[in-house]
Amino acid sequence: MLRAVAGGRALLLSALLCRLAAADNPELPTAVNITWSSINFKTILRWQPKPSGYFYTVEILGKTSDTKKKCIRTEETECDVTDVLKNVKETYTAHILSVTSSRMDNFEEPPYAVSEEFTPYNQTVLGKPEIQNYTQKGSKLNVVFQDPLTPYTFPNGSFQSIRDIFQHDLEYRLYYWKDQSSGKKDATTKSHTFELSVDSSKNYCFYIQGIIPSRRENRNGQESVVLCTSVGRNILDEYGAEVFIIIAVIAIVVITLAIVLPVILCKRKKAKAAREKEPLNGV
Ligand SMILES: *[C@@H]1O[C@H](CO)[C@@H](O)[C@H](O)[C@H]1NC(C)=O
Ligand SMILES: *[C@@H]1O[C@H](CO)[C@@H](O)[C@H](O)[C@H]1NC(C)=O
Ligand SMILES: *[C@@H]1O[C@H](CO)[C@@H](O)[C@H](O)[C@H]1NC(C)=O
Ligand SMILES: *[C@@H]1O[C@H](CO)[C@@H](O)[C@H](O)[C@H]1NC(C)=O
Repeated sequence: MLRAVAGGRALLLSALLCRLAAADNPELPTAVNITWSSINFKTILRWQPKPSGYFYTVEILGKTSDTKKKCIRTEETECDVTDVLKNVKETYTAHILSVTSSRMDNFEEPPYAVSEEFTPYNQTVLGKPEIQNYTQKGSKLNVVFQDPLTPYTFPNGSFQSIRDIFQHDLEYRLYYWKDQSSGKKDATTKSHTFELSVDSSKNYCFYIQGIIPSRRENRNGQESVVLCTSVGRNILDEYGAEVFIIIAVIAIVVITLAIVLPVILCKRKKAKAAREKEPLNGV
């Protein structure tokens, strides 16, 4: 009987202690909707909801590397994790910890949410290639472009391009078509130039995108701007009809002034002459 009471008390006490501990570290919300967004190896982790009364800390876990912390006690809902994903072929997972500012965090495992896995080499999106110059001479259309750069650097400090990282896994495709027509053709290169045979009397438009044929997802990169050549265009095509209308309006105004001004001046002169005569008449 006595033992039962004591046992009951112990139970009550432990329940109470448990409550107290919980009150000191109430169940914090954990992150949801965690997404990786990565272009040319610049990688941002985003999640929800906005914290209120607590903070987030991001831990990046690699399969073969040590866990690294980023954005410690942040009140943001995003974190640039580019510099802890340098080993681009590694597969990473992020833990988004919900932490309070109290020292309790040091002793207790804070609640956290787990992201999907992310392998930069397989998943970063290829950014827009930059077209450097292009010429259409005779039946040859030549296009020169540049590789997008990554945030990662060589030991000498210069930025690595996506080609420095992907090497032979990377190629570029150029889509081209006769201006004002819709039939697209394409060409592929592993260098920085395209040399295409085209109809010398026609204008062509084109754009470029990076491609990693071995990928299953995100195989095609972002598209560059569309550029068009301008061979054999007449001035009207080049500048558009608007310019001609403006020039015509200006011409009409000038001609009108040229006719009207002398008339006005002439009338004024006559009026002046008449006024000058008046006093004489009055005498
Ligand atoms: C998570 O995403 C879903 C769908 O986009 C949205 O309905 C939900 O509100 C998001 N959760 C939070 C906490 O914002
Ligand atoms: C592009 O520019 C470079 C240097 O400015 C020049 O050497 C090259 O011939 C140009 N290529 C084309 C296709 O115009
Ligand atoms: C830095 O090193 C890389 C690779 O070794 C090389 O391609 C690049 O030209 C170098 N850049 C400078 C500015 O020396
Ligand atoms: C990355 O892509 C390559 C080629 O598709 C594949 O062999 C490899 O298993 C992928 N790695 C991961 C972690 O998905």
